[in-house]
Amino acid sequence: MNSNSSAPSISLPPVIAIDGPTASGKGTVAIEVAQALGFHYLDSGALYRLVALASQQQKIQLDDVLSLAKLAAQLKASFANGRVYLNGEDVGDSIRSEAIGLLASKLAVLAEVRRSLIGLQRSFRQNPGLVADGRDMASVIFPDASLKVFLTASTEARAERRYKQLIAKGFSANMTVLLQDLRDRDERDMSRQNAPLQQVEGALLLDTSQLTVDQAVQQVLNWYSALSQ
Ligand code: C5P
Repeated sequence: MNSNSSAPSISLPPVIAIDGPTASGKGTVAIEVAQALGFHYLDSGALYRLVALASQQQKIQLDDVLSLAKLAAQLKASFANGRVYLNGEDVGDSIRSEAIGLLASKLAVLAEVRRSLIGLQRSFRQNPGLVADGRDMASVIFPDASLKVFLTASTEARAERRYKQLIAKGFSANMTVLLQDLRDRDERDMSRQNAPLQQVEGALLLDTSQLTVDQAVQQVLNWYSALSQ
């Protein structure tokens, strides 16, 4: 190997980075890929949602960037059995509301908040490996990921999935409003200066509009196993 190579130490656990827009189904696919491989799973969006929820509870305004960054740096988040906890309290359902998702996407624009969450996200990289789901997993958090996937679906397919998710969780939902919300969030995620959502060089495109979850999971597993052949 070239001595100038920036390749990481081979002792670091492997990472599969799955980035994509909201409601693309990447969370479901990432969880199933992690289960199939026995890897850990990082839901980075949940961290932004937790900061949003905590800021709402503490009545911190969006323009109080220092307090938000401090909140993110001291976030007491934990994950167990598919549930998400904030300060030991199960908030797995409340962070999934559209209002918290929207607030999360506004906080996620702030470089200070993003910086405060880097260490926490990287701490999930443990043996035997990690599947990391988000917007900047391949570009910023794990640029040395073994496999980078950009998982997307049409806006209509995503709005329909989000609609079903919300109804299943007992939230009310309206398709027209959802479509507009998705477009607004895509626009904010893709046009922000800090860690915008993008398909980085080397990331494989997976459009799930016409795929079942099983087909999408299988595709990622095939790509991953092809790396070692
Ligand atoms: O993926 P999810 O919809 O739960 O993420 C909530 C919001 O957090 C997103 O709309 C996005 O703005 C932000 N986010 C981010 N970077 C990540 C994960 C999520 O900016 N790695």
